[in-house]
Amino acid sequence: MQRRFARALCVTLAYLSVASSAARSETAPASGGPLPSKHIIVAANPVAANVGLQVLRAGGSAVDAAIAVQMALTLVEPQSSGIGGGALLLYFDAKARNVVAFDGRETAPGAAGGELFVDRQGGAMDMRAAGIGGRGVGVPGVLRMLETAHRAYGKLPWEQLFAASTQLAENGTEVAPQLAKAIATDASLLRQRPATRALYFDADGAPLAAGAALVNKPLAETLRAIAAGGADAMMTGPIAAEIATAVRGDASPGLLTADDMTAYRAKRRDPVCGPYRGRRICGFGPPSAGGVAILQTLALLSHFDIPALAPGKGGDWSVQAVFLLGEAERLADADTQLYLGDEDRVPVPIAGLLSPDYLLARAQLIDQSHAMSAAAAGNPSWDGAVHPSLIPGPRPPEHGTSEIAIVDDAGNAVSMTTTVQDRFGSRIMVRGFFLNDELTDFSPLARKDNAMVANRVGPGKRPRSSMAPTFVFGDDGNLEYILGSVGGPQIISFVAQALIDTLDFGRTPAEAVAAPHAGVSGGIVQLEAGTSAATLAAALRVRGETVESAPMESGTAVIHVTKDGLDGAADPRRDGVAVGD
Ligand code: DON
Repeated sequence: MQRRFARALCVTLAYLSVASSAARSETAPASGGPLPSKHIIVAANPVAANVGLQVLRAGGSAVDAAIAVQMALTLVEPQSSGIGGGALLLYFDAKARNVVAFDGRETAPGAAGGELFVDRQGGAMDMRAAGIGGRGVGVPGVLRMLETAHRAYGKLPWEQLFAASTQLAENGTEVAPQLAKAIATDASLLRQRPATRALYFDADGAPLAAGAALVNKPLAETLRAIAAGGADAMMTGPIAAEIATAVRGDASPGLLTADDMTAYRAKRRDPVCGPYRGRRICGFGPPSAGGVAILQTLALLSHFDIPALAPGKGGDWSVQAVFLLGEAERLADADTQLYLGDEDRVPVPIAGLLSPDYLLARAQLIDQSHAMSAAAAGNPSWDGAVHPSLIPGPRPPEHGTSEIAIVDDAGNAVSMTTTVQDRFGSRIMVRGFFLNDELTDFSPLARKDNAMVANRVGPGKRPRSSMAPTFVFGDDGNLEYILGSVGGPQIISFVAQALIDTLDFGRTPAEAVAAPHAGVSGGIVQLEAGTSAATLAAALRVRGETVESAPMESGTAVIHVTKDGLDGAADPRRDGVAVGD
């Protein structure tokens, strides 16, 4: 952690001319320094984190800082998020002691229907391939959402939140290691398009390496326009028209129109909340499955003595802990695949899925020593709604997301998970930012016989997400943890694991984010490749599990609000840092 912070500081000093004399703290206790007491920010890139820190130092709110960080990430972590994507922002209003969920999820174009990802033979398209180009581009929602959140909870003027990133885009910052890796991985696709060829390759045509100068003048101009004109500057008028033209004119054309852009609305929603061992956990409901799946997983585990399975200091999760987590995740995932979708367009039995009686019955399906062969979805109560005939939809792969966690001077908090879906989204760049390919989060198939997939494509519909910005409240009702992660469907497991690591195993944020991963994906127990978790494979197989070793590229952020200060940590698998005063 010390080394990561040193690098963050170095990059910041070189490119941000930080004028404040306030101490910047690596917040993990490993550094030995005092914890920040005023405010803290965890983000996946040190330049972006420090842009947010300057906003907090200037008296900005957590929402102000989130806006500034998102603009910086559009420049420095474009493979993961940006103004061409979507985001879910969970906000804690310290004064009202209230949680608000701001939904900036992308929507499908008005002309999109269930056949969008069906090939000529009537089969499902390969969603990874379908995401490249215009077909998968949904209406970007993050900017409208941030504007909505700013109107409700911003303190500093909107345009002030764009100044640092505009300057960085204009004058240059540094290519971070994760960006360099992403450019190299994606070089053949990025080279094909003039805008990305111009930005991410040197004069000899080689992919930019870590530490190279990163300049994005088109983005600087876009940020100036949005600073002056608000979200309208992108969602209406010439930029919206250019986005629609780029999508529709692509070699793999999509359906997005300028009218779709204008029609987009961010939504303010209630969070989904539930108990866990005396605490209250709040997360994001539909269009994300994240909150419901995590609450279900924890509720299932609450019927087992998980705290008794705590590893000793520095120890690894036991076979039994991984086994029980896997069984709980498998049950929750079966419900997710069948029932979860955009609740504005399809009925979702949220109350039934979270009812204690239902979850007790589901927990009784877990045999403590032997794996269930396959989990089927349960039969939750529908509260009188017509129960549609549903079939589960397949899950798509993905790689581009970022997590931001913030506490401001007033104790307000943000957990925002923000995404362009795949690495660099659709790869289409307009005016210095990437357009998402979020529509590939829909099920490619809409129906089988008379049964429908809840997460099928529909006009104006939001694709199902796994993003899971999460808050934990202690038994006194005070905010205790702010967390979230990246990783597509694996987000649910990464956040559930971080919750168990902190709440049940007493780990610090730094320990929790660094812990090796284990979790269920597609019915298979995955163990994080190259870590000590992989040694559990044989013992899990004895219990009847199908096991594989897999890269599990989380990007988890955790902040613990302690009596001694704000203890935060960024996932060591990425470039992130925690900074505060
Ligand atoms: O909304 C979702 O669940 C996905 N679009 C998130 C993608 C993701 O986390 C990829 N990350 N590495």
